[in-house]
Order: sequence, then structure tokens, then C-alpha cells
Amino acid sequence: MGRLLVTGGAGFIGSNFIRHVVNQTDHHVTVIDALTYAGNRDSLAGLDEDRLTFVRGDITDAALVDRLFADTDAVVHCAAESHNDNALDDPRPFLHTNIVGTYTLLEAARRHGRRFHHISTDEVFGDLAFDASERFTERTPYNPSSPYAATKAGSDLLVRAWVRSFGVRATISNCSNNYGPYQHVEKFIPRQITNVIRGIRPKVYGRGENIRDWIHVDDHSSAVLTILDGGRIGETYMIGADGERSNTEVVELILELMGHRSDAYDHVTDRAGHDLRYAIDGTKLRTELGWSPRYGDFESGLADTIRWYRENESWWAESKDAVEAFYAARGQ
Ligand code: NAD
Ligand code: DAU
Repeated sequence: MGRLLVTGGAGFIGSNFIRHVVNQTDHHVTVIDALTYAGNRDSLAGLDEDRLTFVRGDITDAALVDRLFADTDAVVHCAAESHNDNALDDPRPFLHTNIVGTYTLLEAARRHGRRFHHISTDEVFGDLAFDASERFTERTPYNPSSPYAATKAGSDLLVRAWVRSFGVRATISNCSNNYGPYQHVEKFIPRQITNVIRGIRPKVYGRGENIRDWIHVDDHSSAVLTILDGGRIGETYMIGADGERSNTEVVELILELMGHRSDAYDHVTDRAGHDLRYAIDGTKLRTELGWSPRYGDFESGLADTIRWYRENESWWAESKDAVEAFYAARGQ
């Protein structure tokens, strides 16, 4: 049995990854999570408590981080400020967690010689033209557009520098947009599903032509575990499932699956600096480590996700009003 430390384990990516690890391995998992507005202890409900230790704390707390690293074999770093619209409103927490937090963890990884996997995003590469034939690969130059993406790019570069300069045994993965259960209602898909449940018309930024490359969160989790087990130290792996869809296509599918007219949504103020298109070429992960996604069918994955939000209103209800008030003030 291994001892795994997961940062941000009460968030969307972290909690789904922990469920996957508890189901697929016999590792013990320790979580460090500050329980910001985005963290929810209930996202880990129902898991065998003997397999899980939850520590509420900030990843910039070097003394706490040091104690936790002393008792672990490997670290998967999911803690982050993750939402673009919040970063446009106030970038400061993004610098604190994504930059200083990652630096604090890397220093502990260096002191303790721990294996470190850094969870990152395709947004570090900026965006692609709608008609571009190339997709993002491990060799695409960094070109972040937004404050959130810039802090994630900075954190990736810190990881690379700590590998090269200090021999930290780290890998990085850059994944595209995830969907699935336990995602905060501020994000596109859960916002629209919960809007429909509440009788609010879905809100699409601008013309809604922007394209995201959707992957089910369980596929992201299995890819990360594959990299943790077999990834080459110092390497970056792109994670994607060939799921490109425009925002209007996604919202229309949500409406249809929920029994409404597919045009029953509003166009609202566009996001500043809105990236046009993301698309991942995941060849390296598939050929080198033999990983492949299980959720080939976006429509059935989306239907499962809609069912989950319908059945788990108590998980999201408390956040919904504050999120909608935030968006209303921005004309979104
Ligand atoms: P999230 O906002 O749902 O969760 C973030 C978690 O981190 C929360 O539980 C929060 O309490 C915790 N946290 C925040 N600041 C902290 C701090 N200073 N100390 C300790 N804990 C802190 O975010 P997410 O969607 O789960 O994203 C997690 C990671 O995955 C991010 O690095 C993001 O870049 C990456 N990622 C996300 C997606 C996606 O579609 N959601 C896609 C690719 C990559
Ligand atoms: O690509 C990976 C990234 O995906 C992650 O790094 C981020 O943490 C994650 O939040 C996500 O970023 P996006 O900005 O792409 O996701 P978001 O859910 O905020 O928006 C998806 C698309 O939908 C984007 O084009 C903006 C649009 N949108 C969003 C909201 C909340 C709308 O049209 N209406 C909305 O109400």
C-alpha cells in the first residue's frame, strides 16, 4: 500500500481523483484542502474513512506542508484557484495559491525527495483559431491569455525548473475541460444544468461559438493515475478525449436532454479576452503509456451528469444564489 497526498481533494478534480484511487488501488489518501468557496467536504462523503485522512489547511503553510510530506510517498497537486471569471474579478488569490502554493509544495518535494505530479490545464497554451488544423501537444509554446491561465503557466514552469535544477521527481499533465459530478455551479455545464432545474434560462457568453474539448472527469482521473504509475520523470503529458464542441452545441444538448426547447437560452455579455478554441492531441499519453478514455460518448456522459445534479441538489443549492448574484452583477 502507498501513501498518497492529494492537494485540493475537496474540489472537483481532486475529489473525483480520490474516488478513483480508492476504488482502483489500495493506497491511503491524505487530503490537504483549505475549503475555500470551491471546496466541499461532502464531495468525499461515502468513502471508507480508514482509507482517507482529511486535513484542512492552506498549501502555502510551509510548516504544515512539510509535516504532511514527511508522511507520504507521492503527491498529486490539484489545489488551485480554478475559475477564469473570478480571476478577471480579482487575480490576487490566483497568485497566492497557484504560484506561491505550488512553490511551497515544490520546496517540500525537494526537501523530502517525494514523487510529485502537477495537475495543469490546456489553457497555458492560449487559444487556437477555429480553423487551425493543429491541436495542442507537449511541444506547443506557452501563451496564456487570462490571469488564471498565466498563473497556471507560471506554476508549470516552476515545476519544470525544480526538476531541472533540483532533481525533483515530477511530472505534469495538461488536461482539457472536464465535466461530471461534484463540479462547482460557477462552471459552464453545472451552471446551465442547475439553471434549468431552477427555471432560469441558460446563459451563453457572446455568440457562443467558442469551442472547448470536453473530457469526463473519470477519464482525467484514470489518466493521472496512469502517469503517476508509469510517467517518465520530467515529462509533460497532454490529456484529452477528442471532445470538441461549441458552447451553443453543449447548451442545446443540455436543454434537449432536460426536456426543453433547444433554443430556450440567452446570449449574455462575453467574457473579457475569451479564448476561442482549445483542442488536445493526446497521442503521447496513448502511445507511450497505453491510456485511453472510457467515456467515448459525450451525450451519455452529459445525461449521467444531469441526473447527478438532479439527485444531489443539497450538494449545490447553497452555492447557487451567490454564484448567480456574482454573474448578474457582471451582466452574465
Ligand atoms: P476547484 O475550484 O473545483 O477545486 C479547487 C480545490 O482547491 C478546492 O477544494 C479548494 O478548496 C482548494 N484550494 C484552493 N486554494 C487552496 C489553498 N491555498 N490551499 C489548499 N487548498 C486550496 O478546481 P478544479 O476544477 O478541481 O481544478 C483543480 C485543478 O485541475 C486546477 O489546477 C485546474 O487548473 C486543473 N484542471 C481543471 C480542469 C477542469 O475542467 N476543471 C481541467 C484541466 C485542469
Ligand atoms: O480547459 C481547462 C479549463 O477548463 C480549466 O483549466 C479551468 O479550471 C476550467 O474552469 C475550465 O475553464 P473554462 O474557462 O473553459 O471553463 P468554464 O466552465 O468557465 O467555461 C466554459 C466555456 O463556457 C467558456 O467558453 C466560457 C463559456 N461560459 C461559461 C459560463 C460559466 C458561458 O458561455 N456561460 C457561462 O455561464
